[in-house]
Amino acid sequence: MAYIEVRHVTREFRSGTQTTVANRDLSFEVERGNVVTILGPSGAGKSTLLNILGGMDTPTSGEVLIDGTDIAKFSTKQLTTYRRQAVGFVFQFYNLISNLTARENVELSSQITQDARDVSETLELVGLSQRAQNFPAQLSGGEQQRVAIARAVAKKPKLLLCDEPTGALDYKTGKQVLRVIQDAAQQTQTTVIIVTHNSAIAQMGDLVIRINDAQIQSVTPNAHPTPLDEITW
Ligand SMILES: Nc1ncnc2c1ncn2[C@@H]1O[C@H](COP(=O)(O)OP(=O)(O)O)[C@@H](O)[C@H]1O
Ligand SMILES: [Mg+2]
Repeated sequence: MAYIEVRHVTREFRSGTQTTVANRDLSFEVERGNVVTILGPSGAGKSTLLNILGGMDTPTSGEVLIDGTDIAKFSTKQLTTYRRQAVGFVFQFYNLISNLTARENVELSSQITQDARDVSETLELVGLSQRAQNFPAQLSGGEQQRVAIARAVAKKPKLLLCDEPTGALDYKTGKQVLRVIQDAAQQTQTTVIIVTHNSAIAQMGDLVIRINDAQIQSVTPNAHPTPLDEITW
């Protein structure tokens, strides 16, 4: 059985008489340990799908099997536990706590899970040992994103979800950040999903899922994911 099985997932948002269908009848499977890229233009429904996989939102209909358990049927309390224990998030704008140091931002996350990674080791994994005592405002965008990655992987998530992680970064820094995500995933055997609207970045995935207008256009296994060194955009 695949690690993730999304079956006929639809997510509608209703306000008054208006209904927006953000995800329409999505189905796909992801193997454990894979890096998956989700590619699509703005408004296609990428973040909605990522939020559903991360237990931040629930579908209007359909099943979301994670390791055989349908999280679409979870109660609010079960979703909280799932988010805490199983999922790491990396967002476009880092979302660090500004009055905590890099180290403290990572500690906060490791403290809410049992069996968390060592904080110093995690900062080293993302190459930030020297900046542990700095506050977010004292760090560059790329460094802040690396803190966010450290925070996400510190709790040893089964699933690492990254929503446009390089969207606010320049080319060179963006590439470094993708490498850190890839390395961290490999070393921790984590299943990773990276949302992007950049088709070059999408080629780093073991599986490339294209979404357009709320629907899946294609699900393409990539037997030879493009190494980051060879990706240019
Ligand atoms: N909480 C929400 N309430 C109402 N509409 C939403 C909400 N979240 C997303 N949408 C709508 O769903 C569609 C897909 O949004 P989103 O998943 O954010 O796309 P993407 O991440 O691909 O840019 C958009 O039309 C958006 O306006
Ligand atoms: Mg989005």
